Parts: sequence; structure tokens; C-alpha cells
Amino acid sequence: MTPAGLEVTCVAAVAAGGVIGDGPDIPWRVPGEQAEFKRRTIGTTLLMGRTTFESIGRPLPGRTTIVLTRDAGWSAEGVQVAADLDAAVALADGIGRPVSVAGGAQVYAAALAAPGLVDAQVLTRIPLEVPGDVRYPDLDDEAWPVVETSPHPGFTVRTHWRRDRLDGLAELLGAGGGAGDATVKGPALLRGGTHARTLALRSGGRDLVARWFPVGDPSVGRERPVLERLAPLGALVPAYVADTTTPWGPLVVTTRVPGGPPPVEAEPEQLAPAMGRALAAVHALDGAGLRRVDDLEAAPASLGDVLVHGDFWSGNLLWSGPEVSGIVDWTGARHGPGELDVAWARQDLVLLGSVAAADLMLEAYEQARGARVPDVRGWDRRAATYAEPHVAGWAPNYAGIGRPELDGPTLRRRLAAFAATLG
Ligand SMILES: NC(=O)c1ccc[n+]([C@@H]2O[C@H](COP(=O)([O-])OP(=O)(O)OC[C@H]3O[C@@H](n4cnc5c(N)ncnc54)[C@H](OP(=O)(O)O)[C@@H]3O)[C@@H](O)[C@H]2O)c1
Repeated sequence: MTPAGLEVTCVAAVAAGGVIGDGPDIPWRVPGEQAEFKRRTIGTTLLMGRTTFESIGRPLPGRTTIVLTRDAGWSAEGVQVAADLDAAVALADGIGRPVSVAGGAQVYAAALAAPGLVDAQVLTRIPLEVPGDVRYPDLDDEAWPVVETSPHPGFTVRTHWRRDRLDGLAELLGAGGGAGDATVKGPALLRGGTHARTLALRSGGRDLVARWFPVGDPSVGRERPVLERLAPLGALVPAYVADTTTPWGPLVVTTRVPGGPPPVEAEPEQLAPAMGRALAAVHALDGAGLRRVDDLEAAPASLGDVLVHGDFWSGNLLWSGPEVSGIVDWTGARHGPGELDVAWARQDLVLLGSVAAADLMLEAYEQARGARVPDVRGWDRRAATYAEPHVAGWAPNYAGIGRPELDGPTLRRRLAAFAATLG
């Protein structure tokens, strides 16, 4: 039995003819491929066979390793041991992080044969003829449609999802979505955001976005009433289409807002004015009736309560050049002082590298709202105090919008330097 909500992905590099190994070794060296494996498995629990573990020779950093062996006397430092697949899955479930099945052939085969266990296969295809006697199990493309293709020099990474995930989506759109046509076309995984798994798709002639939240996550129930009151923002925000509960967690489908991540070549100062204007448009909406922001004791003076986005940063905006074409991820929206969002957006610009951009964003916001924000430094201070223990952990979010150079230490340093100016 697969524990509810445990996300299990086979991660493998496969050469021509399905070859993944030669004896105990991997018979190639392709620059960048190992780094890609690391990027996709960091923070997860690795499940691997004894042979694979012994050929690597040590637990890989930043990941928990569970080694499968039938030898009750086997052990190694820094790894957990399981005598069969069920025991390994139970151990992984206790750890509570996504699982990467990391090989070799026996372990891939066992995991893929376990009914309903594996949700996705991330396969790095290496177009090389290499000698080898260890092969990846045959892949049925019908049962495992591709949802993401990511080309790199020398190899291509393809993500396959189990078909019934997409079937469930088609059913939902046919039944509740009013989309008329339940065919799901061209699904593609969207990056950015570590909370939900996000797929872009076309159905019924519309561009849609499907998001699966972790099992038991309340976000979907919270988001729907918010989306319904965003109508005055028009095409800038997603519209609710349908939602349901799936074995992979609550699923919500919305329309897709056009645009992409903030252009990497744009300086923060170029993004700032559009951010300020977009935020002022959000704050023209009434948040009454939504969850109230709590924890406002000793809050600085404010312009009053509005609809607060709750996580207004450049990565939750969609961009067309330096203009904002969309505002997404409304799961944290509440009723309260808009200055919470102002300080959050300013802090994002500071982390992107520019205090001047934070001031430009404030200027544009105040101009659009027709009022000065009282005590912005007080709100900045509050945001910085909240962010301080978390900021290093935001590196994957910045990497997701194409800013991998903003690693944990850099984010921490920039926040500390800004906080020091706030007194
Ligand atoms: N290209 C890639 O992405 C990739 C990734 C990983 C590995 N590889 C390659 O794959 C090859 C190794 O694969 P392999 O199939 O020979 O070995 P493996 O799957 O790594 O390990 C096999 C061993 O794991 C244990 N095991 C497997 N299934 C088990 C189960 N259901 N319950 C309990 N124990 C289980 C057994 O250990 P005991 O004998 O101790 O009982 C078995 O002998 C190497 O060439 C390696 O380099 C390639």
C-alpha cells in the first residue's frame, strides 16, 4: 500500500538501448548530468539498491539514503537499511519528504512493479551508444505521458507522469469545468513555487493551470473565495475553473494568466514601478469576509484594511518584459493592512539586489493609491524580523525564477545589511 501523499519519483540517466550501467559502474561521463541529478534530488529521500550504494561508496549529501538489501547483517554509516520495498516505503513515509528512487535496475523494476507506488519518472536521456548490461525497465509512453522536456548540452531530461493523474484531470474538466471538451492537451510542468505541483495545459480551447497541493493542505478551500472576488482585476488574475480531491492531494484548476518569470536581464529598478502599480490595484479591493490577518499587535500605522495578497514578490507575478501581466498564488490572501504586502515586495527587491528599487516600488505604489504609507520603515522592520529565520530557505524559489546566484548565504547577507539600516 502506498502511503497517502507520499510523492515517489524514479530518477535515472539512460543511454541508448536503455543502458543504465555496466557491471557496477555507469559507463559514461557527461558534464552537467550529475549536477542535474543533484538539483532534482536534493532534499528528498533516496531509495537505492545495495549494489548502487556500494558503487557510489558514501551517502550523498543533502539527502537521506535508504539502502535496500536482503542481507540482515549489512550496514553502512549514515544510511538507513530496509529488507524489502514495503519496509523502505514505510521508512520513507516516516521521514516525510518526497522519495527519489535512485536505482539500480532491480530497484527501479521493483518500484515500478508495485501498484500505484511511482507517481513520476524523471529520465535523463543520453544519446550515446555505450557498452552495458544493466538496463532501465521498458517505458510505456501511453501509460507515462511526458509533461516536461528540458534540453541540456549533451542530454535531455524528460519528466513522465503516471497517466491516471492526467485522466483524473480530464474527468474533472469534463464534469465540473464547463470546458466542454475534457481532452487535456500539451500538459507541461511549470517551475517556481515549491508548495504545489503545477501543470499548464489546454482544454476546451482555454489555457489552464492545474495545481496539486500536498494531501490535507487547506489552500484550495481558501483560494476559491479569494479568486471569486478578484474579478475587478480582470485578465491580471486567474479565474476559478474547478477543484477536487485526488490521491495526489487537493487539485484546483484555474485559467492561465499570460506571462513568464521576471526577465533575468531586467534590473530590479526596472521591475519596481510595475510592481508598485500592480500592488496598488490589488489593494483597491475589499478583503472584508476573508481570513483576518492576526498578529497585528504593535503594528505600525497603516492606510487601513484591504485585500492583502500575502506573498507579493516578483516570482508570484507574471511578466511581459518589465510590465506585470499577471498576479498568481492567492492561497495566502487575507483581510488586513496592505503595508504587509508593501514591505514584502520591498524586501524581495532588496534581496534581488537593490534598495533603490524598493524605494521606486514604494513611490509608484503611493502614486497609484494617492496616499503616503505611514511608517514604511516600521513595516520593513517587521517583514525583516519575520524573514530572518527563513530567508536562506528561499534560495530554491529564486532559482525557480532563474536566479540561482541568490543562494542562502547571499540572501541572508542582503537581508541583514538591509535590516541594519532600519534601526
Ligand atoms: N544510470 C543511472 O541512473 C543509474 C542509477 C543507479 C544505478 N545505476 C547502475 O545500475 C547498476 C546496479 O543495478 P543493479 O540492478 O545491478 O543493482 P541495485 O538495484 O543497485 O542493487 C541490487 C541489490 O539491492 C538489493 N535489492 C534489490 N531489490 C531489493 C528488494 N526488493 N528487496 C530487498 N533488497 C533488494 C539486493 O541487495 P543484496 O544482494 O544485498 O540483498 C540486490 O542485490 C550499476 O551499474 C549502477 O551503476 C545506474
